[in-house]
Amino acid sequence: MKTKKESYELVLKQVEAILSDETDLIANLANVSALLKTTFHFFWVGFYWVKNNELVLGPFQGPVACTRITKGKGVCGFTWVNEETSIVPDVSKFEGHIACSPHSKSEIVVPLIHQNTVVGVLDIDSDELDAFDSLDRYYLEKICQLLILQSLI
Ligand code: SME
Repeated sequence: MKTKKESYELVLKQVEAILSDETDLIANLANVSALLKTTFHFFWVGFYWVKNNELVLGPFQGPVACTRITKGKGVCGFTWVNEETSIVPDVSKFEGHIACSPHSKSEIVVPLIHQNTVVGVLDIDSDELDAFDSLDRYYLEKICQLLILQSLI
């Protein structure tokens, strides 16, 4: 059984492999969400993209989710405005949390930043409380940086 760090190191290599011969953004977001979901068995993994000053649902793995999020709303909208990763150990304690599923208990949202502007977010929900820590933040931020560097947007 691998440690979480070992799993992330492997995931990082797989992300690099996925991105090495493909520059299409949607294809890369789709494969990265599948890789994270199948490796860590998170409840929901997906991307929201900034379009016309709203976050719009992009490639994801997991149950059906809300399609549009207003700037500043929910953990995703908060992360967009704040331009920093949000870790929410208990979503019921986050004022304004948007509950797409009653099974989501904790959440991490990482901004995707291109030319100093947030262009989207990676959102991951767990069905366990307090599922995310600084290790998740470190590797997920690295993955988001690679996605932006390697994909044409
Ligand atoms: N919980 C998010 C909404 C998106 S779903 O979790 C997939 C939020 O509060 O922004």
